[in-house]
Amino acid sequence: MNFTIALLQFNPTRKNVEKNIQKIQQAMEGIKADLIVFPELSNSGYLYEKAEDLKPFSEENDGHGPFLSALIDLAKTINGVVVTGYAEKEGLKLYNSAIALSPQGPITNYRKTHLFDHEKMLFNPGDSGFKVFEWNSVKIGIMICFDWIFPEACRCLALQGAQIIAHPANLVLPYCQNAMVTRSIENRVFTITANRIGTEKLGDMRLSFTGTSQITDPSGAIRYRGPKDKATVHIMAIEPNEAINKNLNPQNNLFKDRRPEMYKLVESREH
Ligand code: ACM
Repeated sequence: MNFTIALLQFNPTRKNVEKNIQKIQQAMEGIKADLIVFPELSNSGYLYEKAEDLKPFSEENDGHGPFLSALIDLAKTINGVVVTGYAEKEGLKLYNSAIALSPQGPITNYRKTHLFDHEKMLFNPGDSGFKVFEWNSVKIGIMICFDWIFPEACRCLALQGAQIIAHPANLVLPYCQNAMVTRSIENRVFTITANRIGTEKLGDMRLSFTGTSQITDPSGAIRYRGPKDKATVHIMAIEPNEAINKNLNPQNNLFKDRRPEMYKLVESREH
């Protein structure tokens, strides 16, 4: 089976949803893919002092707001699914979310479980649990940025059958790209980390985002690593069924060999 995946790396402009839509539309001209992944918070940018400053640039998860409706139109021209990070609002609450959008509309919405640093001042902790959806007979799981440092995130998705992990990111630490190689090896899945570029400043805070968006395969091979500081789109064909077989060798199956009964926390195992 041939399945085309893609990622977009770009520099979202803070407080300018319309400009971010334009940047994305320009980058997507002529692109066709089964699945494309955009960075975390692609509608709003990253640094805000408080939640009420961010709220005007957030939207609901119904696909009717300006950002998500423009991306549903884009899914129609791409002829595939878009997974994008965005600032989500629900009543008085804000979430750092990622949504899967097909040409017909939203498929599933994930709210970031592990908030990073100052994000805790802006967003509610995600309450959706880890989501896997199916598109063209391929199972795709979603996690967001800092979820990478908790192996449980990718494991939950893989145990639910995800063959590909769509991973919108706004990375500032230098470790994730290497860690995603391990996430691929230990779960035998493809990963697509769509990271952003650029620098944002707010008061004393200054963040530089690390680019180098990445695609890894179930053997842990890096199939693509992007530039550090240039906007880019990368498309490639993969065989998602490579992620179905969890055998490492004839004796070891990475899922069947798990022993959850031994993972309970106990004070001492001595007898
Ligand atoms: C991050 O989770 N955006 C570092």
